[in-house]
Amino acid sequence: MSNADELKRQAAAKALELVEPGMRLGLGTGSTATHFVALLGERVAQGLQVIGVPTSERTRAQAESLAIPLADLDTLQTLDLTVDGTDEFDPALRLIKGGGGALLREKIVAAASNRMVVITDSSKAVQTLGKFPLPVEVNRFGVEATRHLIARESALAGSSGEIRLRKEASGAPFVTDGGHYIFDCAFGIIPAPEDLAARLTAIPGVVEHGLFLGLASAVISAGAQGVTVYGS
Ligand code: 5RP
Repeated sequence: MSNADELKRQAAAKALELVEPGMRLGLGTGSTATHFVALLGERVAQGLQVIGVPTSERTRAQAESLAIPLADLDTLQTLDLTVDGTDEFDPALRLIKGGGGALLREKIVAAASNRMVVITDSSKAVQTLGKFPLPVEVNRFGVEATRHLIARESALAGSSGEIRLRKEASGAPFVTDGGHYIFDCAFGIIPAPEDLAARLTAIPGVVEHGLFLGLASAVISAGAQGVTVYGS
C-alpha cells in the first residue's frame, strides 16, 4: 500500500468508529471511500448490522461484493451518517467534490443524511477552495451554451479559468451515472464559494456542482502527524 493509501485507510478506520449497529449509512465514492467500504464489509462479515446507500454504481458493486445490505433513498429517505472522500476542504469545512464523477448522487445522499463525515489525507487541505478544478455536472442538451453561461456567471463571482469537458482516455466525453457530462473548471481560487454556488445552481443546464457548502459536519484528515478531526 502506498503512503497516501495508508493515510486514506487510517482516516477510513477512524470514521468506522462512528458506525453503530442499525445505522443507515451513505457510502461515498473514490479511493478513500473505497477503504471505508472495505473496512465496513469486514465488520458486516463479523455480524454488524447496517444498511447502506451507495453514491455510485462503482460503490454499489463494491458493497454488493462484500455482502453489505443496500437500499435506496426511495425506501429510506433519511440516513444517519454518510462517509465520503473529498478533493479539497477549507477551514470552514467547505468542499470541492466530484473528481470521481459522482458528485450528484454524493450530494443527494449527503443532503439526506443527519451527518456527513469526510475522510481524506491531509494533502486535500486548502486555505481557499479552487486549486482542484471545480466539477460541474451538466445536461447534455445545449452543452456549449451552458459552458458559456458557466464562464459568465463564474466571472461575476470572481472566478475564471479554463472550462474543460471531462473526457475518457478514449477521447469520448465522460458520462456520469445519471447520464450527464462534467465540465472541470480550473479557477485556481474561488474567492466567493457561496456566490458562485448560487450562480451555478441558477443556470438551467447545470444539474449540480461540486461545491459542498454546509454539508460536512466533520473532516477526518490523516497526515504524517497522525489523524486530525476537524468539526464534530
Ligand atoms: C467522487 C468524489 C471523491 O470523493 C473525490 O474525488 C475524492 O476521491 P479520492 O478519495 O479518490 O481522492 O468526490 O465524485
